[in-house]
Parts: sequence; C-alpha cells; structure tokens
Amino acid sequence: MNTEEFRRHAHAFVDWMAEYLDRVETYPVRAQTKPGEIAARLPASPPDHGEPIERIFTDFTRDLLPGITHWQHPSFFAYFPANSSPPSVLAEMLTATLGAQCMLWQTSPAATELETRVLDWLRQMLGLPEGFAGVIQDSASSAILCAILTARERATGWRVNEEGLGAVERLTVYCSTETHSSTEKDVKVAGLGRRNLRKVAVDDAFAMRADALEAAIREDLAAGARPICVVATLGTTGVGAMDPLRALGQVCRRHGVWLHVDAAWAGSALVLPEHRGMLDGIELVDSFVVNPHKWLFTNFDCSAHFVRDPEALVRTLAILPEYLKTREQSQVIDYRDWSVQLGRRFRALKLWFVIRAYGVDGLRRMVAAHIDLAREVEAWIGAAPDFELMALRSLALLNFRYRPQGVGDPAELDRLNERLLEALNDSGELYLTQNRVRGTFAIRLAIGQTATRRHHVEAAWKKIQETARALG
Ligand SMILES: Cc1ncc(COP(=O)(O)O)c(C=O)c1O
Repeated sequence: MNTEEFRRHAHAFVDWMAEYLDRVETYPVRAQTKPGEIAARLPASPPDHGEPIERIFTDFTRDLLPGITHWQHPSFFAYFPANSSPPSVLAEMLTATLGAQCMLWQTSPAATELETRVLDWLRQMLGLPEGFAGVIQDSASSAILCAILTARERATGWRVNEEGLGAVERLTVYCSTETHSSTEKDVKVAGLGRRNLRKVAVDDAFAMRADALEAAIREDLAAGARPICVVATLGTTGVGAMDPLRALGQVCRRHGVWLHVDAAWAGSALVLPEHRGMLDGIELVDSFVVNPHKWLFTNFDCSAHFVRDPEALVRTLAILPEYLKTREQSQVIDYRDWSVQLGRRFRALKLWFVIRAYGVDGLRRMVAAHIDLAREVEAWIGAAPDFELMALRSLALLNFRYRPQGVGDPAELDRLNERLLEALNDSGELYLTQNRVRGTFAIRLAIGQTATRRHHVEAAWKKIQETARALG
C-alpha cells in the first residue's frame, strides 16, 4: 500500500470512526452472538494473495462488529468502565503511526521524557505527595506484580532474584477477602504460592481490618514465615470499599512490610479534592496504581504505577545485555527496567492528549458528573419499595437487587435476580454485571462511560424496573 492509498483509507476510516461514536447507542451493548458464531464466519486458512482494504473493512463491519461488546456505549454499566475519548483515540492514531518501541530513553527520548512529565502531572492531579515517581504499565495486574516482586526482593536482600525461592523462608502476602483476583494471580506468578496469600477479614464496610491483618502477620511470623507485602485497595471491585491506609500502613511499618495500594478504579476520583480523604496515610505507602484506562477517558491500556523508591523496582527488574547498553544510560531513565516486559508502547501520548484537551477542571467535571448520576440512581433505588441497595454506594458504583413482596426465600431471590440480569443483558439495551454481597446475588451498576448522560441512567432504571416486574 502506498501512502496515497493509506491516506484514502485512513480518511474513510476516520469517517467511520466518527459515525461509530455518533451511532454507538444503536448497537446492542453486550454482543448478542453465540459462542463460535464469529469463528464460523472466518476462513480456516489465511489468504494466499493480498486482498483490498475495502473488502477487509467490509468483512470487519459485517463479520466482526456483531461480536463486539460496545464498551463506549453510554449504557455500559458492567465491570468497571474502560472509558475512552476522542483526544485519546487521536493520540492512539499517532502512536500507531509512529510505531515506536519505547524500551529505552534512546529508542525515543520524547516518549520517556513525556512519560516522566505526564505522570508527574497525574500525581499532582490526584493529590499524591511529592516523591512518588511514575511509570505506565499495561495493567494494574502488572503493577501489582511489580510491587510484589519488589517487596519480595527487598525483604530477602535481593536473594530470590539470585538463588530462587528455595533459598529463603516461606514468604507471605496479605490482601482482603474483597481484593481483586489480580493479586492472587500475581502471587502465583511471583512463585510464592497461593497458599501464602492471606485473605484478611473485612469490617461492616467491606474494608480490610487492621487488627485482623496484625493477627495474620503475627501468626505467620510465629510459624517461621516472612511477611513481605500487603495489597490494600481503594475501591474494591465488588462494592468499592476503601481500605484504611493509615491503620494498615502502621501495621506494615511495624513489621517492615511493603504496602501497595490498588486504586485501579477509584483512583481517578482523586482528581476531585473532596474524595482525597481516602489517601489518609499515603505517607506510609510504598507503591500505588491507578488506571486512567478505567475512568480517566484514556484508551486501554494505561495503568499509572507510582513508586516511592524507583531504585528498588529497577534493582528488582534490571537486566543489561550488551545490545541494550547506551551511551546515555547513566543520565536517563530507561523504562524497560520498570516493568516486566522489555518492549513498550508509547502510552504517555494519549494521557498527555487527554489531560491537555480536557484540562484538570474538565476531567473533574466529567468524573463528578458520573458520581452525581450514581447518587441519583441510589435515591431511585432507595425509594422503590421492591428494590434494595445491597451495599452503600461507593463513588459511581452501586449494588442492588429486586426484592418483590412475597418472595422471601434467599435462593429464590438469587435466582430471580440472576434471571433479571440475564434478561437485561439479552435485551442489548444496557449491560450490567453481577456480584455476591455477603453471599447474596446482587446486580452491580458502575457509571463511567464518557458519553453517559442522565437520560441513559433514567432509561436504564426504567428498563430494570419494567423487566423485573414482568419477571416477578
Ligand atoms: C480494583 C481492581 N484492581 C485491579 C484490577 C485489574 O485491572 P487490570 O485489568 O488493569 O489488570 C481491576 C479490574 O477491574 C480492579 O477492579
């Protein structure tokens, strides 16, 4: 393809992209295809000869689009959002065109220097203290893995890196019963063994109990284990609980344990100063992750990982074969040493575009609008006699269920709400996901799509009530 053809196709694609964003509401939110339906449309073997872009594009819209779940749909209330925005998409186009691999300062100085600067902007925007240095990871899972690895090495004097886990005592990690599964996965990946992850009890607000953490650490110490890391969460995935950083941090300090904070979703709300109470105790925190790719209008993937001691991270992950040496290495940051992967996309560009295009006040308004909408839905649910909230609203996240009069059996209520959720998602009009709150089935609604406005949540609430009452 020559550049003239590229230009022609690119213009056509941009037209389609703009139309898509205009028309995204006309698609079913969650893909309505059955397993294997899309695969059946795809040839079993690759083409021998090149095909025109027009034909490939037609197949994209005809064969693939029906199997896409539309995350940018304003009625997407499932999981946590992965909200994007036009400035972010524009930046991703530039990133793809440059195709730069930004593993070293030298392999694109601007990418490295922009990453450092833009993450310091983000640190300021979120009210994180000075002294935290940032790096962009692909996901919160990777940031948590890096934290656990660094904690492992710091606790063992960098011995595991050299000699393996067999050389040291049993190492233990702590999170709460509400912590996202990525911590458990990372404990497995780090070779520590799932059995050495202690899931600490939570209080009535689903927050990790510092007294229970203290007890678990003492028990493990008494059994000859070495506690290395606590993963606290601001905004748990189920109900959005906030673990108490100060109380947990004091326990960590007492025992020389690393404190990592997973604020993957809720961290974006820190752009609003009124939500910074959750940072109380941040001075006791070693590392912190927030995903602008969840709730800060920046395309997946963009996970901002802040560390207080970059040297510990670099010492844990650094590797320097001959072919990666550069003349400037002693004067610059080579981000390849800050993450598991060597190769790195130019991810800072989209965050830079987003922050500049909206400004801090614009981003504040957008996040605050989502929280205001969630507050309204909370009031509607509270006022409906046949619905109930299953946990307190956290920021823009709600858990509720349908509870019609006359249905008292817990198992029957669970089944009724499961059926309600399926019926809603099968309608294509909105998309929600499920949760268990103290063992009880709940419908989980997270507001955070860029295009979501009041009429979308009003329509969602109307649909939820009508569907429930028809089932009930
Ligand atoms: C609280 C929390 N932490 C971590 C993750 C994992 O995020 P990622 O997909 O960036 O690894 C999620 C995902 O939703 C989450 O809710």
